[in-house]
Amino acid sequence: MNAVIAVDVVGLGKTYDGFTAIRDISFSVQKGEIFGLLGPNGAGKSTTLRILITTLRPTTGRATIFGHDVIREATTVRRQIGYVPQERAIDRFLTGREHLELLGALYHLPKSVLKQRISELLKLVELDQHADRVAKTYSGGMKRKLDIACGLLPNPSVLFLDEPTLGLDVQSRLTIWEYVKRLRDQGMTIVMTTNYLDEADQLCDRLAIIDHGQIRIIGSPQELKAGLGGDGLTVTLEHPTPEMLERLEHEIRSLSCVRSVHARSQGVHVRIDAPEKALVAIMEAASRIGGRIASVEYHRPRLDDVFMAYTGHPLEQPDPVSSGSSSL
Ligand SMILES: Nc1ncnc2c1ncn2[C@@H]1O[C@H](COP(=O)(O)OP(=O)(O)OP(=O)(O)O)[C@@H](O)[C@H]1O
Ligand SMILES: [Mg+2]
Repeated sequence: MNAVIAVDVVGLGKTYDGFTAIRDISFSVQKGEIFGLLGPNGAGKSTTLRILITTLRPTTGRATIFGHDVIREATTVRRQIGYVPQERAIDRFLTGREHLELLGALYHLPKSVLKQRISELLKLVELDQHADRVAKTYSGGMKRKLDIACGLLPNPSVLFLDEPTLGLDVQSRLTIWEYVKRLRDQGMTIVMTTNYLDEADQLCDRLAIIDHGQIRIIGSPQELKAGLGGDGLTVTLEHPTPEMLERLEHEIRSLSCVRSVHARSQGVHVRIDAPEKALVAIMEAASRIGGRIASVEYHRPRLDDVFMAYTGHPLEQPDPVSSGSSSL
């Protein structure tokens, strides 16, 4: 069976007053897939999403949603999509239900359909017990669930989620991942952005790593990790000087069992083929430069290694939020 292409993006670029925010972005998303754009702050994720939801005009390139062009057929595209913005769009003085009713009126949904749909959505995001409370009293996780219900109100074929779990506690994040998977299993196509490696790894069927406005690599998390080849070894030294780290990096780079080496603040991160050989050789290299090893961590390829390999820098992770409510 041929896969149906839900979202097709070719050579998209956007320049804001001479500043190139994204350049030559191309990817396609199959119907029923969760596709992620993973990248740091300022990478160009929201810019890409805003072009796809027809609110921002690209400088170059084109994009279609189920074959409809986001510029020439913007009205048709809007009928097929839902959008959950990165910034909370919630009005503090309305209840959860009133938010959905207001939005339903904007979409011109008939009253009878709307009532039923709102109660289904409130159940889906587990807000039915809290639907008549003013939204300013909701926790951060509850507000985000309401945002998602708002995005789902038009019953979209493609849902765009901009940083769906940013700043949420662990439990709320897991719950939102479950909703998103359930929507995918019902045939919805999801395009989302994230700053979180674990979210990209566990939620996305395929993802694009985006950095400085450009896509570096696209694949499923499994493919990307397997594609790296070799395992990771992070060696830290006790009180290293910059000269010691430089010499260690140089020594390790010349070893035949080593694929790549990157300096870290207290040591080096090394990709290796044969752990049994590499470990001894790296310990010897550390001893040659007069360094004392503080720790050695060995691991199978992870998505942070993939990110590092294709961008040349680590992806800083936003601080985890302890459970409980986050304020507005
Ligand atoms: N309206 C605008 N005018 C000028 N520059 C902008 C505008 N919107 C975004 N940018 C710039 O474009 C770049 C990409 O921004 P964008 O919001 O797409 O990044 P992002 O990947 O979504 O980042 P974040 O993770 O912080 O949300 C940034 O350097 C940003 O400052
Ligand atoms: Mg953004």
